[in-house]
Amino acid sequence: MDLTRIRTQADYDDAYRRSVADPEGFWAAQATGFTWKKRWDRVLEHDFKQGRTQWFIGGSLNITENCLDRHLATRGDQVALIWEPNDPQEPAQHITYRELHARVCRYANVLLRNGVRKGDRVCIYMPMIPELAVAVLACARIGAVHSVVFAGFSAQSIADRILDADAAFVLTSDGMARGARKGPVKGLVDEALAGCPGVKRVIVARHTGDPVAMQAGRDVWLHEELAHVDADRPAEAMDSEDLLFILYTSGSTGKPKGVVHTCGGYMVYVDHSFRNVFQYNDGDIFWCTADVGWITGHSYLIYGPLLAGATTLMFEGIPTYPDAGRFWQVVDKHRVNIFYTAPTAIRSLMAHGLAFVEPCSLASLRTIGSVGEPINEEAWHWYKQHIGKGRCPLVDTWWQTETGGILISSLAGVTDEKPSHAAWPLPGVQPVLLTPEGKEIAENDVEGLLAIKFPWPSIIRTTYGDHERCRQTYFSSYPGYYFTGDGARRDADGRYRIIGRVDDVINVSGHRFGTAEIENAINESDFVVESAVVGYPHDIKGQGIYAYVITDRPVTDAEAVRADIVAMVTKVIGPIAKPDKIQFVSGLPKTRSGKIMRRILRKVAEGEMSSLGDTTTLLDPAVVEEIKAGRM
Ligand code: WT7
Repeated sequence: MDLTRIRTQADYDDAYRRSVADPEGFWAAQATGFTWKKRWDRVLEHDFKQGRTQWFIGGSLNITENCLDRHLATRGDQVALIWEPNDPQEPAQHITYRELHARVCRYANVLLRNGVRKGDRVCIYMPMIPELAVAVLACARIGAVHSVVFAGFSAQSIADRILDADAAFVLTSDGMARGARKGPVKGLVDEALAGCPGVKRVIVARHTGDPVAMQAGRDVWLHEELAHVDADRPAEAMDSEDLLFILYTSGSTGKPKGVVHTCGGYMVYVDHSFRNVFQYNDGDIFWCTADVGWITGHSYLIYGPLLAGATTLMFEGIPTYPDAGRFWQVVDKHRVNIFYTAPTAIRSLMAHGLAFVEPCSLASLRTIGSVGEPINEEAWHWYKQHIGKGRCPLVDTWWQTETGGILISSLAGVTDEKPSHAAWPLPGVQPVLLTPEGKEIAENDVEGLLAIKFPWPSIIRTTYGDHERCRQTYFSSYPGYYFTGDGARRDADGRYRIIGRVDDVINVSGHRFGTAEIENAINESDFVVESAVVGYPHDIKGQGIYAYVITDRPVTDAEAVRADIVAMVTKVIGPIAKPDKIQFVSGLPKTRSGKIMRRILRKVAEGEMSSLGDTTTLLDPAVVEEIKAGRM
């Protein structure tokens, strides 16, 4: 029997009990099946007061040896990566484990040839093409730290991330194709690099064939570089706690922070969660629709499936091109067995109607999954019935960039599921609900702040370049716990239901933004004096962005000013952070100490005008009436 694989409710109960009674023994058993260059000396050391955690201390490994080399003898000719292009008329690519191994080794040699060394930070800004997955793995192969930036972020966002990580290398492509349009990629990198003098080399993959400017001495073409290298590149020996990657994510304050994950613990946890949550079986074709620019793409498009020896599918396009049936057409075309997407995609496809689903058989599907935001009951049932045909288990997986892998989810068909409930903690995960004062709530059928009281192997290690920020953000509000920033309910039987963020973070279509980050962007507009941003319920996106804006002059042409603000947000952050509603106000509801009462702004944005609560502490209660009257 494979001790790392949970197949029944009794297995789960047993694994969970062991993982709490003896976490080190439990995780050591999970880690044993991998290729280690040197076995670890100690399993775990941690200090939640300092926000410090280490796993598999003294061990040495390379995650790509475990994703690729380890499989060559048994599944070298099996397809590792299916690439489905944006345009369904173009051929898909099928890349075997042997081919992927060779491509990663060659790309790794290109990196070395261009001066990249172990420990160097490499920024990757690329659309969803095979070279993106190859680039990520090539960095890991030589021990360079990848920092993938979602190819929908602005030039300024790229620059911020390059500077914060002090990256001297950028891997990119000429352009991208998404739906009916093409977009620039290298052009945005060029714009970003105007402010990044530390970047020494840019390696450009040719994809769309669009013309790009190449700066002599700095920019090289990938295909030209590949002509100079062979496919021989042994995997670098990495300490368990050496950095594997940095991924930037938004918090309630300041600029996005670089969440750091390390080699050993991340590998062990992502593999375990992938195989058990989705109940992966040998030979399954797995499709995660997330972009590699987010943690979901890192953990469950690249690393998790490849560690398991699965066939992973990467899709370049969008769910509605050429029509709103594309996801289901791709499922049938490639006979996908496990399908993992976000509630926002489900809601938007649901709105297009069943006519796009019905022509497809979807008979290959065995498991379906959801991630990124709460899935409302209507979307849950539609997904379960019309995509899962009532027979596929639906796993609602709760986790975060900082957790590296799924922490709360039912295990497909093994533990029970309940609409809109992520349900059960994975083995090794010890969630608690806290009162605002930080007291653990022992009872069931309660609501509280979600925290985790013991480390799991893929917990955040630090925020790049600023450990104090990590300690403050996650480990200081409730000493002794990792605090998630989410509120949750626990039902009478102990299942968790995630309610949403309790901090100033909003989740728009599964993308995370700090309200302060959007306000800072809005405030860059010439028209704007001050702004306040809140989330409000949005039928498709989950949350929409509602901005209250004070201008420096009377607004005569509201649409022009709104367009200017939207353009500014697009420039500073990217089009994904555009406000959905902009209301012009003459003042904001502030307390006498100058603090904005966001509770009031949220209520108005939600349309709950009658229950604004206590407004007596406001400096100027009259602004509330004005805001209510002008609601968008
Ligand atoms: C936040 C983390 C981790 C993958 C993508 C998002 C929300 C995530 C769920 C879920 C309800 C969810 C939480 C969390 N979230 N999954 N299944 N049910 N909420 O990663 O960008 O780091 O955002 O997404 O609020 O804190 P992220």
